[in-house]
Amino acid sequence: FGRHIRYEYSTPSTQTLAHQWAREGAPEGAVVIAEEQVQGKGRMGRTWHSPPQTGVWMSLILRPPISLAEASQLTLLASVGVQQGIKRVTGLPIQIKWPNDLLIHGKKVCGILTELRGEQDQIHYMIIGIGINVNTTSEHWPEELKKIATSLAIESGGHLHRATLIAAILKELEEVYQEYLNSGFRVIKSKWEQAAGMLGKTITARTPQGLITGVAERLNESGALLIRTDQGVIPVYSADIDWKEI
Ligand code: BTN
Repeated sequence: FGRHIRYEYSTPSTQTLAHQWAREGAPEGAVVIAEEQVQGKGRMGRTWHSPPQTGVWMSLILRPPISLAEASQLTLLASVGVQQGIKRVTGLPIQIKWPNDLLIHGKKVCGILTELRGEQDQIHYMIIGIGINVNTTSEHWPEELKKIATSLAIESGGHLHRATLIAAILKELEEVYQEYLNSGFRVIKSKWEQAAGMLGKTITARTPQGLITGVAERLNESGALLIRTDQGVIPVYSADIDWKEI
C-alpha cells in the first residue's frame, strides 16, 4: 500500500478525492493524503475536525475480491491494522471501540470511515478513510471535543513524525489485508477481540432501531457485535456504543 500517493495541502475531504481517483481506475493500495481537510467527514454524517499539519488525514483505496455481505469485516480489519501501526510506533495502549474507533484512556484518538461502491453483491472499490489526531493539542478543538478527544502527542508527551506513522500503518494494513485474503476473517476477528476494550462490559448501543443495553460478548462471523440482553443475544450491525469504565 502507498506505492501510489496523491498528496494535497488542503482539500474538502480525502474521501471525495479517493472516490474520484477510484472511479478513474486507481490501483489497489493507492492513498490520498492531505495536510488539512476543510470538510472532513465522520461516520453517521458527522464532521471530522482536521486542522492543518496536526494529524494523519488519509484515504486508502481497496479492491477486495469479496461480497458486499463481507464488507463490514474490512471495516474491522482496518481498525486492527491502524491500531497495530500506531502501537508499533508509539507503544501507547490503544483500544478498539466497535466498530473501528481507536481510544487511549477512553478518549478518541482515531476514527475510520469506510465507504464502498458496488452493485449486485459485487464490490467495485472500497475507501478506508483514516483520521488520526497526532500532534493536535486541545486548543485545536471546540469545547465539546475537548472532553472526548485526545491525540498521540497529548498521550505520549511529545511531537510525532507523521510520515513515520503513515508508513508503519500502511505496512500493517497491507499485512493484515494479505492475511485476510489468504486465510479469511478468523485471525482478524481474534485480533480485533483482543484489542477491544468493551467485551464483557455492559454497553448501550444506539442503533437505527433504538437503544439496546446489554453485555458486549464478541463478534459474529460477519463482524456484527453480539450483545447479550434480557431478550437474548442480539447482533448489532450499525450503532454508536457507550459504556462506563468501572
Ligand atoms: C469517524 O466518524 O470516527 C470517522 C472519521 C474519519 C475521518 C477520516 S480523515 C480522512 C478521511 N477523510 C474524511 O473526510 N474522513 C476520513
